[in-house]
Amino acid sequence: MKMFSLFLHFVSRTTKPMWLWSFLVCLLLSSGRTVSASTYLIGLGSYDITGPAADVNMMGYANTEQTTSGVHFRLRARTFIVAEPQGNHVVFVNLDACMGSQLVTIKVLERLKARYGDLYNEQNVAISGTHTHAGPGGYLQYVVYLVTSLGFVRQSFDVIVDGIEKSIIQAHENLRPGSIFVNKGELVDAGVNRSPSAYLNNPETERKKYNYNVDKEMTLLKFVDDEWGPLGSFNWFATHGTSMSRTNSLISGDNKGAAARFMEDWYEKNSFENDFGGLNPEKPGVVRIPRRVSSIIPDLHENRKELMELASSFQSSPGKPTTKISSIARRVRSALRKADRPQFVSAFCQTNVGDVSPNVLGAFCVDTGLPCDFNHSTCNGKNELCYGRGPGYPDEFESTRIIGERQFRKAVEIFNTASEQLKGKVGFQHAYVDFSNLDVTIPKAGGGYETVKTCPAAMGFAFAAGTTDGPGAFDFMQGDDKGNAFWKLVRNVLKTPNEEQIKCQHPKPILLDTGEMNEPYDWAPSVLPVQILRIGQLVILSVPGEFTTMAGRRLRDAVKTALTSGSNGEFDSNVHIVIAGLTNTYSQYVTTFEEYQVQRYEGASTLYGPHTLDAYIQEFRKLAAALLGGQAVEAGPQPPDLLDKQISLLTPVIVDTTPIGVNFGDVKIDVPSNSPYKRGDTVTVTFWTACPRNDLMTEGTYALVEILQGEDQWIPAYDDDDFCLRFKWSRPAKLSPRSYATIDWRIPDSAVSGVYRIRHFGASKGFFGSVHHFTGSSRAFVVA
Ligand SMILES: *[C@@H]1O[C@H](CO)[C@@H](O)[C@H](O)[C@H]1NC(C)=O
Repeated sequence: MKMFSLFLHFVSRTTKPMWLWSFLVCLLLSSGRTVSASTYLIGLGSYDITGPAADVNMMGYANTEQTTSGVHFRLRARTFIVAEPQGNHVVFVNLDACMGSQLVTIKVLERLKARYGDLYNEQNVAISGTHTHAGPGGYLQYVVYLVTSLGFVRQSFDVIVDGIEKSIIQAHENLRPGSIFVNKGELVDAGVNRSPSAYLNNPETERKKYNYNVDKEMTLLKFVDDEWGPLGSFNWFATHGTSMSRTNSLISGDNKGAAARFMEDWYEKNSFENDFGGLNPEKPGVVRIPRRVSSIIPDLHENRKELMELASSFQSSPGKPTTKISSIARRVRSALRKADRPQFVSAFCQTNVGDVSPNVLGAFCVDTGLPCDFNHSTCNGKNELCYGRGPGYPDEFESTRIIGERQFRKAVEIFNTASEQLKGKVGFQHAYVDFSNLDVTIPKAGGGYETVKTCPAAMGFAFAAGTTDGPGAFDFMQGDDKGNAFWKLVRNVLKTPNEEQIKCQHPKPILLDTGEMNEPYDWAPSVLPVQILRIGQLVILSVPGEFTTMAGRRLRDAVKTALTSGSNGEFDSNVHIVIAGLTNTYSQYVTTFEEYQVQRYEGASTLYGPHTLDAYIQEFRKLAAALLGGQAVEAGPQPPDLLDKQISLLTPVIVDTTPIGVNFGDVKIDVPSNSPYKRGDTVTVTFWTACPRNDLMTEGTYALVEILQGEDQWIPAYDDDDFCLRFKWSRPAKLSPRSYATIDWRIPDSAVSGVYRIRHFGASKGFFGSVHHFTGSSRAFVVA
């Protein structure tokens, strides 16, 4: 929630002279910062990418029935740019989205070219996904990733492309001298291996080198502006965005989005309130607004009777149309943009996440409560009964909060103690590689080398079984009657693999020969981007998929060896190598050769055959050598732009209606009048509303909690980006043009006493397609 500047404005105008406030800010910033000569220009940016909150299939579990119907909290694109003065630039974008998309990357690059010429291009821009499974889908271009979303969803796609562009523009405009620090820490309780039987197939000598069967290390960058002090941080840590389950329907950033929200809130709270001495993690997940509100609102509200009388003078206000609603909603957040320092941006990025689950309690059978079969993750032979449990089990919101909080706390700890400064060149290397038919040279068992090949993409049978995070995925595979309209349209081109393909993919039993299916357009990618970004002794490896733990270790080791054995002495053993997973495009999983033999979900989803990882290692070695030598690698074949070929079968919003005598925004079920409420209670109100697809309320909100100041001034306190507020959308029947907005506010422990109300913002579509904005509000109630 971005209320800080509102507070800053308010305080600076009313309670303290501006100069005093500025002085305090300067004092704070100079005390908390490690002074060092800047070596880089740095800029951070962040923008809302929350997609359609109704009717759109969520990307990740491939569960046809999992469609959006509301907002848990908002999704964002967070960007850093680092540049040498008059030299190389690198851009890294972290999306609260399931993965990067080739089509998104292509369109973002087109826009950047139009705006900045050759400054930003495929070489030096990386766009990575956090892997939340709770965001709207339909923004990828290959058929396999569009089946459950009924094809392409333009609205999902556009908001992501727009948001990335805006966050990059912000970061670019914020470019100023600053320093970057790197730090690492071990986080042991935020991820477990969900396919340990595959991991165990790796050589024992190799496994013995590691303490765990997943990577527990978080690597963090801390960005410090020469003038303003800390600007933000980006970190990489491996754990799936599957704390929210395959039946959740609220848009959510899952555990990484939650961690980012907590850390940004934590920084703003701690840096501008009483705590001038330093930044200590304290009560994470507690939103900071109430303390701000409490400093705005004097304690006149202590008298409960007075409060009740005041509240009763405000009834719910009926829905009223206005053309300005979206800008009213937007004001909450855009207030921040006017702050006289850049906003603090903190991103939690994904890395070699392939076999890492946040459901740390393990996988259990829903019928018996016993652990699932170790080798197959089944219960009595059935995969659909085996579910992983998060630490908040059975509450998925709680699991999301806890896994988010654990990452947030570790990030704060290593942010506060970061002291190793990045120094040295900014650089990058990029190539497109056709993975469908690549010669790969690997060491031979008895010595020497041999050349093997990758294969056209194919998915194995274990893919249809899903994982313990979401069993039985892809139910579009089950027979004719179950498939949706898009599946019925495309299934006729299913291809039987030929002998060569079967042999190449062995031992994978082929379910879908996606690499050899091109109707109505390509089913799977064959050309993939590989990329290295370098900032001093930090090296980021952008990979277009989900590497398993051991696959990631092998890739990092290979690149490290290539960089440190180079003779020019540019890198010593202190080089920090991180893998940015799910970046620039998506091509599912990458396991080791040994894990591939076991053919669990990850092996079945390793598209290009048993030597896929070896192919990556070979190509990244080339990039590393080129980085050292300063020459460019061969650009490789361009991936296709399939935008014009996309098919969309999702029904658009036709019209919204209300019953006669009812307006959009009218209260249907008001907040019960039995206030006062206490902290920990949940207050609920239901409004007559319209489809949220009519306006995504970008940088705005569908729901707002306001607190009364004085006699008649309402101040925004929480919006739909806050953990404590949920916006839930529903219809009385499947095709009904009527709909409801139910807003739940769980009153946080930190809420101040006072008179509150809940507002809803929406937009309705008329018979002739025109969209009208509206708002309504609940009755006032007391929190005491
Ligand atoms: C899993 O499979 C391996 C290899 O077939 C076997 O040795 C092992 O006993 C199995 N483990 C369990 C717990 O069933």
